Formats: sequence, C-alpha cells, structure tokens
Amino acid sequence: MISVVILGAGNVGTHLVKAVQSADNLSLIQWFFRDPKAIKSPIKDVEFCHDLDRLKLADVYIIAVSDKAISDVSKQLPFENRLVVHTSGSIPMKQLDMKHRRGVFYPLQTFSLASEVGFSEVPFCIETMQREDSKLLKNLANKMESPSYMINTEQRQALHLSAVFINNFTNQLYRIAHELSDSKNINFDVLKPLILETAKKVQYLSPYAAQTGPAKRNDQVTINHHLRTLESHPEYQSIYEQLTKSIKNTHGFKKL
Ligand SMILES: NC(=O)c1ccc[n+]([C@@H]2O[C@H](COP(=O)([O-])OP(=O)(O)OC[C@H]3O[C@@H](n4cnc5c(N)ncnc54)[C@H](OP(=O)(O)O)[C@@H]3O)[C@@H](O)[C@H]2O)c1
Repeated sequence: MISVVILGAGNVGTHLVKAVQSADNLSLIQWFFRDPKAIKSPIKDVEFCHDLDRLKLADVYIIAVSDKAISDVSKQLPFENRLVVHTSGSIPMKQLDMKHRRGVFYPLQTFSLASEVGFSEVPFCIETMQREDSKLLKNLANKMESPSYMINTEQRQALHLSAVFINNFTNQLYRIAHELSDSKNINFDVLKPLILETAKKVQYLSPYAAQTGPAKRNDQVTINHHLRTLESHPEYQSIYEQLTKSIKNTHGFKKL
C-alpha cells in the first residue's frame, strides 16, 4: 500500500485524487487546498485539509499547484526528509525545498476539470534525487495503470515544449478553424472526423510522412486564394504564412 497526500485542487490535483481513490493498493490520506470553497462538486471519502501544519504522514506528497507556487508550497511543508514531488513539465526538480527527498511526477497529458481522463493514457515522467524514490513513483504510476518513464529535467522541459506544439498550438488552430467555419454557418462537427484522422495517422506514420495539403504540394494558386480570404484577419493570415513557410521548408520548397 502506498499512502499519498495531494496538494492542489485544480485540473491535475482533482484528476489525481480520483485516480488514487479508484486504484487498488493506494491510500489517499489527505487532499490539501487552501480555499475551502475551491471545489465545486465535492469528491466523497477523502479528508480535506486547508492548513499545511495539519498534514499527516504519507509515503509521498504530490504538489499539483500552479508552477509559480511550487517552490513556496514545498518550503512551507512542516516536515523534512519525506518524498515530495511536483507535477510540472517545466519547473526544475531542484526548485523543491532541499529539506525534502525531492522528485517529479509529471503527467504528460492535458487535464481539464470538465473532461474525464483515463489514466492508462497518462504517461508519467519521473525524476528523483534518490534511486529508491524512483521505484516508489514507478510503483505509484503502475497502480494507477499508467506507463512511466525516467526523464531528467532537461528531457522533461523538451517534452513540455513538444507538448505545447502538439496540444496548445494545435488547439488554438482548432479554435481559428471553429471561428472560420462559424462565420459561414457551418457546424464545427463537420470537421471533427478530420481532427480524429489527423491524430490517428501519426500513430503509425511519421509526422513528416503524414503531411498533405497545398503547402506540401507547393500549390501556390490555392495558397494565394487562402491568403486573400484571410485579408480581414491579419493575425490568422500571418499564422497561415508562417506555417506554410515551415511546411515548404520541411518538404523542400523554399519560397512562400
Ligand atoms: N492542466 C494540465 O493539462 C497540466 C498537465 C500536466 C502538468 N500540469 C502541471 O500541474 C500543476 C497544476 O496544474 P493545474 O492545471 O492543475 O493548475 P490549476 O488548475 O490552475 O490549479 C492550480 C492549483 O494551485 C493552487 N495554488 C496556486 N497558488 C497556490 C499557493 N500559493 N498555495 C497553495 N495553492 C496554490 C490553486 O489554488 P487556488 O484555487 O486557491 O488558487 C489550484 O488549486 C502545474 O505545475 C502544471 O504545470 C498541468
């Protein structure tokens, strides 16, 4: 049995609480969040804690708070030499207070309160100061049925950067497409099979091999038509130009 305390009631903290609660051989000792009114739909059978001085003994403390608060929260923990990890893709492990056994338990997935997450689809990137602690974190991921990988800070930061391209930027492109389809009274649902197929294809083709479209074909007539259509949206026109240039560079056509 691994005992866990989770700190933070945002997207990640809340999903971790549910995952730990539903796993065999994991015991959720407490859930800390500073504002008692923070959670909208209370989760049952968990002891809430709103005062760091009242934290109980556990095998691991998972700090799932905003990046800028991780270091401060770790300093405020009223004990030493216990395993304390954070869940950030970008914060170095060494920003945790050195009075703890430090580690990182970064879930490489996107979490929103409104969307359920299957933890078998959540790879955990693990880093620890002590070898024994990595075993414990691997075991913890295993009990949540999640894959896990030993990843150092530099590798994790590269993965986080990749995740921004894959998830955040792609999602912003969805949002632009949504606005463009809305402006012509087209339901966004029409585009959803394309979204799924695009994600499915890179499961077995490289992103290079999977590319299609006017930039890959160097079809300047279509590109010019798209750029004219976007004349009333200079910001989107500029994104279109940048990405078209990048695809052309990748596929051997240098000029836009
Ligand atoms: N969301 C994702 O998709 C995702 C994926 C992987 C990793 N992560 C990482 O996971 C961590 C949490 O992200 P999140 O998306 O769950 O953030 P979030 O939804 O914005 O929630 C942040 C939580 O941190 C708490 N907090 C902020 N400042 C605090 C402080 N000074 N003391 C105590 N609690 C404080 C907030 O409490 P209040 O409500 O009281 O402000 C809230 O509970 C971050 O390190 C993030 O980089 C996020």
